[in-house]
Amino acid sequence: MKDGMRVGLGTGSTVAYLLAELAARDVKATYVASSPRTEEAARALGISVEPFFTLDELDIAIDGADQIASDGWLIKGGGGAHTREKIVASCAERFVVIADARKIVSSLCAPVPLELLAFGLAATLRHLEPTVLRDTPRSPDGGLIADYYGDLADPAALCARLSSTPGVLEHGLFAPALGSEILVGRGDIVQRFSFGGIE
Ligand code: A5P
Repeated sequence: MKDGMRVGLGTGSTVAYLLAELAARDVKATYVASSPRTEEAARALGISVEPFFTLDELDIAIDGADQIASDGWLIKGGGGAHTREKIVASCAERFVVIADARKIVSSLCAPVPLELLAFGLAATLRHLEPTVLRDTPRSPDGGLIADYYGDLADPAALCARLSSTPGVLEHGLFAPALGSEILVGRGDIVQRFSFGGIE
């Protein structure tokens, strides 16, 4: 990471390690955060975070993941921040996922986090059965966080279905097409994945 870069910061306990490292190295980049939690943590470490409003692209986004499948599909949103995380990842030239080896799965498992509009909530939930509302505060954008527990055998089909369901603001399936580079820590070793599989 170099001074002057435009950097998107993800959310979660793994990203907390990244923030500490960026602060220690005093990297003078332009940072945007994918959640108030990350924004507050960054500021507490002396990292200045800009509102994500006028910037239209980022050089890099770095984030954690809840599940990483060997074909590059990810599940994110364990912390309910997946809508902003996906916006940040989607506008970055490089999207880098950092995780420990426990996040690697042979195939994705339920649940898939969702962010839903409150308007028409019961109807949206009926379309998406089995989906359960999460007992958690609304997102900073006012959405309700829920978890989809249905079939996940075909992530691309599910992705298309969730994206085309009215009332779904965003879901936590991240497609390999996002261009993820995945760095997985195993003890002192870092293993690099591309979305084609383990290198
Ligand atoms: C936040 O909504 C999530 O997408 C996190 O990025 C993801 O759950 C990884 O979090 P941890 O690093 O805390 O496991």
